[in-house]
Amino acid sequence: MAGNFTKKILLWYTENKRSLPWLETNDAYKIWLSEIILQQTQVQQGTPYYLQFIKKYPTVFKLAAAPADEVMKLWEGLGYYSRARNLHFAAKTIVEKYNGVFPNTYNELISLKGIGNYTASAILSYAFSKPYAAVDSNMIRIITRYFGMYDDINSAEGKLKIESRAQQLLDKNQPGIFNQAMMDFGSLICKPKNPNCLICPVNKACVAFANDAVALFPVKAPKKIKRVRYFNYLICLSKKDILITQRNENDIWKNLYQFPLIESTQNFTNAQFKKQNLLKEYFNKNLIDFDVSIIFTQQLTHQTIKTRFYILQMDNLNDAAIPEAIKIPLHQLKKYTFPGVIREFLQRNSYF
Ligand code: ADE
Repeated sequence: MAGNFTKKILLWYTENKRSLPWLETNDAYKIWLSEIILQQTQVQQGTPYYLQFIKKYPTVFKLAAAPADEVMKLWEGLGYYSRARNLHFAAKTIVEKYNGVFPNTYNELISLKGIGNYTASAILSYAFSKPYAAVDSNMIRIITRYFGMYDDINSAEGKLKIESRAQQLLDKNQPGIFNQAMMDFGSLICKPKNPNCLICPVNKACVAFANDAVALFPVKAPKKIKRVRYFNYLICLSKKDILITQRNENDIWKNLYQFPLIESTQNFTNAQFKKQNLLKEYFNKNLIDFDVSIIFTQQLTHQTIKTRFYILQMDNLNDAAIPEAIKIPLHQLKKYTFPGVIREFLQRNSYF
């Protein structure tokens, strides 16, 4: 039997639920797709991508058979591209190992690329009605506030305590509905900032509310300082052509396209850039014009990327001594998948 907290949350949900397209299906493939898209992405931004993906790839067979470049192109703009690579890889595994039938056990799901504890539990509850609490940041926030849990949520002990509370609160007869209710409740009432405590249906028993301490939860240990990386991109242009390269290393934006890159740990001033002899080394011979963009700053989970573009207009690109570069006509730029910062630069400067 569901306890008091759970009953109140479910009642709140029947009156306040959001209408979201992935709630209209029990198809594990579509649910999985929605969950991968919605990791690190807001509902509003992710929804059109979800609709495009299920239109283009209505089954796991279609996704598995798609060319990698096409999947990346459809993902373009969502960021964190390893999600798309893992999605494609896992689709192939499901077809090859499970004949296209989506696995329905925790251990099988967790062994697929890109599926962790949360996503496995979400699929098991939404698609297969199995009693797994899907513990995401909403659920963590609600539970730590309600029970006044001071453990660091990233510690093994803190995680275990939250998981075990979540599992106790779960309505085992309707686990999918409970999980979705908690997610909506976390997005609409028990929000990270300015939560709506005065209209919260469970405020009477909430420890954080009783102690006027809602803003203190969840408790996180201080973060490590993020690494800062400077990406100095060379936009090597002739009248009609441009040089691009592909990122192959195990690093951010793997397999995406970019421009010849000089990475540094500090910002170059123009003078330093020129002093490095980079221009001379690569292009001195036929450089016609030189220009530098502003710095674009991007916060990723574990690092900060500061990107600057050096625009090098040249007579011809044939002398450019960058062996891995590919020369393409400017009008073909839009065929390639670039990281967001490069697309932004190209759009701002009307390259496409
Ligand atoms: N974010 C992740 N999964 C979600 C879901 N099922 N509904 C709304 N937002 C989500």
